[in-house]
Amino acid sequence: MADKYDYDVLVIGAGPGGYVAAIRAAQLGLKTACAESRETLGGTCLNVGCIPSKAMLHASELYDEAASGRMAKLGIKVTPELDLDTMHGQRKDAVKQLTGGIEYLFKKNKVTWLKGRAAFEDAHKVKVGDDTVTAKNIVIATGSSVTPLPGVEIDQKVVVDSTGALELPKVPEHMVVIGGGVIGLELGSVWRRLGAKVTCIEFLDQILPGFDGDVRKESNKIFKKQGIDFKLGTKVSKVAVKGDKATLTLEPAKGGDAETMEADCVLVSIGRRPNTDGLALDKAGLKTNQRGQIAIDHDFRTGVDGVWAIGDVVPGPMLAHKAEDEGIAVAENIAGQTGIVNHDIIPSVVYTWPEIAGVGLTEEAAKEKGEVKVGKFPMMANSRAKTNHEPDGFVKVIADAKTDRVLGVWCIASVAGTMIAQAAQAMEFGATSEDIAYTCHAHPTHSEAVKEAAMAVTGKPIHI
Ligand code: FAD
Ligand code: NAI
Repeated sequence: MADKYDYDVLVIGAGPGGYVAAIRAAQLGLKTACAESRETLGGTCLNVGCIPSKAMLHASELYDEAASGRMAKLGIKVTPELDLDTMHGQRKDAVKQLTGGIEYLFKKNKVTWLKGRAAFEDAHKVKVGDDTVTAKNIVIATGSSVTPLPGVEIDQKVVVDSTGALELPKVPEHMVVIGGGVIGLELGSVWRRLGAKVTCIEFLDQILPGFDGDVRKESNKIFKKQGIDFKLGTKVSKVAVKGDKATLTLEPAKGGDAETMEADCVLVSIGRRPNTDGLALDKAGLKTNQRGQIAIDHDFRTGVDGVWAIGDVVPGPMLAHKAEDEGIAVAENIAGQTGIVNHDIIPSVVYTWPEIAGVGLTEEAAKEKGEVKVGKFPMMANSRAKTNHEPDGFVKVIADAKTDRVLGVWCIASVAGTMIAQAAQAMEFGATSEDIAYTCHAHPTHSEAVKEAAMAVTGKPIHI
């Protein structure tokens, strides 16, 4: 196919969307290259996102289990000593191994890595560094970066974004997190566990926008119990840095008197925005929508023939697994197959303690569409969670009142991120709550709470 062009497929960006698209395209026999401006492959997710944050979350959780006396309750008496350099070392090792793994997969699948920043010259021609390459198909997978807070300069010392917050050289005394979303709660949890006082300032009346209402309220209670302070319905209007301290000016979101707050670390985590700067989209005949995203159709085609887009740069949740699935689908579509992603069933997980996860509709959104039945089961009544001293959380199953088809599942549980996969799979197969309720679940497992919540949809759980 590539006779007229250098490549059949050129992917711009080697994050979970781009590297997966490139590997699948090569697996399908297409001559493929992937341009990446970073030193290493893997994008935000492997370098400064999912992977390093989970390395810090895992290590800090173990530290907290020992420091908080939770281990002592199990008969393990230890007084932990924090060695932050080693903790950062294991984070860097995880990143190195996984980004190196993508390099190996590129070689194995014969994907050419073009090192440098890519910019369009026309819809089939791209400049990467000093070279120009042509491709029959170009997939834009340039991801996203931190949304700045107007007037607040990120110096990565006192005022940090998620990348800076992963690398703090010492535990802050007082960390103020601006934004009670996923990053704020995950990275706020890391430093709270390691000894920082953490205050989270959230513009809305509740944390975790987009999550089910019950889940938002319950997780707020759990984080408060763990020691995170919240100021909801509050905006930060100014951050003044002097030396190694910051003074924040806070105002009620709905208007009112301002107050100030001192911090030695401020994390700005108010969302992310698509990366299109410097891509010269106009030369390919493309432009972005009002939210700065590249619009696509169901098959990931942009408005320009031969140019496709996936991942954080297109509309939809900014999640690595969504980007990966789109990567596979776009490559299959380019190869003439039928690549599909069911965007109604993309699970979301917050990797805090306990984990918070959901898939499908929230109860609020489901009720807007029609009549629903809801079943809830508390983790306190789940034998495995109780045995493990993990009483917080619940599972909630939302089903259509007439057809019983499952519309959404939400969990707060130590292993909610793992439990949500069964819910996604059941929903993908069009399951009813009865299908889940009558599926034999191994005992004793946290997943039995999903079964019991499904039983509760029709009012018949056993253990409560
Ligand atoms: P990216 O991963 O952003 O990759 C895009 C790549 O394109 C980058 O490497 C960039 O350098 C490159 N690029 C951009 N422009 C150009 C150009 N012009 N030329 C060449 N290369 C270019 N998601 C989850 O699902 N689970 C998690 O646990 C999770 N944790 C996260 C934690 C943090 C702290 C952050 C910040 C994000 C997290 N995310 C998580 C979100 C996840 O990282 C993104 O959704 C995912 O990386 C998006 O993949 P992508 O391929 O679209 O883009
Ligand atoms: P987010 O969209 O999850 O949360 C941002 C929060 O900041 C919202 O609650 C919003 O109301 C609030 N906010 C916005 N402006 C504000 C202001 N001026 N003052 C106070 N609060 C303000 O964004 P976040 O946490 O930055 O994460 C970005 C993306 O990264 C998310 O879309 C998420 O999908 C992804 N991510 C996913 C993870 C996961 O899957 N576990 C982990 C980390 C990030």
